[in-house]
Amino acid sequence: MPSGWKCDLVFINKMKELINKYEGKELIRQVRGMCGVSEKEALNDISAAKELKSLETDINFQKLQNKAKILKPTLLMEIAKCKPEQKSEILEKIAKEELTSVNDVKNFRLGIENNVFQPKLFTVWNFNGCDTRYGIPDFPGRVPGQIIENILYYYTYENDLVVDPMAGSGTTYDVAMQMKRVCLCYDLQPIRPEIKQHDIREGFPEETKGCSLIFLDPPYYKKLANKERYNLPYIKNRDAWLAFMEKLVVNCSSTLSQKGIVALLISDFIDEEEQESLLTCEYYNMFRKSHFNIVNRIQVPLTTDQYSRHEVDRAKEGKTLLNISRDLYIFRKL
Ligand SMILES: C[S@@+](CC[C@H](N)C(=O)[O-])C[C@H]1O[C@@H](n2cnc3c(N)ncnc32)[C@H](O)[C@@H]1O
Repeated sequence: MPSGWKCDLVFINKMKELINKYEGKELIRQVRGMCGVSEKEALNDISAAKELKSLETDINFQKLQNKAKILKPTLLMEIAKCKPEQKSEILEKIAKEELTSVNDVKNFRLGIENNVFQPKLFTVWNFNGCDTRYGIPDFPGRVPGQIIENILYYYTYENDLVVDPMAGSGTTYDVAMQMKRVCLCYDLQPIRPEIKQHDIREGFPEETKGCSLIFLDPPYYKKLANKERYNLPYIKNRDAWLAFMEKLVVNCSSTLSQKGIVALLISDFIDEEEQESLLTCEYYNMFRKSHFNIVNRIQVPLTTDQYSRHEVDRAKEGKTLLNISRDLYIFRKL
């Protein structure tokens, strides 16, 4: 688009008017007159505006466009080329200014189309839903595989041994295979053949000895207690839970290789009335006590979809905030 030109809806509408009224060389002349641009730029604007006309019937797209406040036709044209399921993610990224130019969008679109992994660059990782290649849909507590992708990218190498002792739907396993890591997964109630039955309270199985990274996504104290899988008798109270975690941290240390990594995904539990609150900083202290150094703390917020409409309404009425914060602690064994 011409530099300095405020690309707004008025502009788009004027372009549409010109397209309806003129064609060929006269159209280019009119556009150049209106914007003061070269012939090449005018042609670019004309094709963008034509592409936009085809989006007018797409109501979902219009809604997203309003949400992201994107009015630049060339950007819209680039987004128009994306698959429907990619559009919302791209628009969210533009709204957050993670993608700012037509080229950014193009690269991102091509990256997604070829399933090319794009590592996060900063310590806040937002993901729009779960990459469908990893884990099992609707598994309660399944994490987006993109979290594991980034962990493995930053803290392991190909052929490293990665261990997930509470593997749930096997997200870690799927990502590890994709990224050519060796992976051992366990769960109290395994649901896939790649996950072996093992209760981590008994320590890590011998075969995990010397592993490079352990991913911990424990059943968050109290968070999912109402779900059948998480109604665990050994989590009787806050102290019992802390004792479980403390033992787990010690066991991580003895099974990891020297300088091995633990990636702990965890969120706060706050309950003012019951005095049962548990903040993630308590886990930090636990790891420090067991001679781990902190490497990073990354914020990986949950999506707002965690909460039902009913919960949102209740929170509004009661003027309370719903928590979507979640921390990913990266510790290195000293
Ligand atoms: C939050 S889920 C993990 C979800 C997983 N990251 C995914 O993406 O599907 C926690 C898992 O820990 C398992 N678990 C709970 N207590 C355990 C124990 N003592 N030993 C092994 N697994 C346990 C639960 O069965 C559950 O599948």
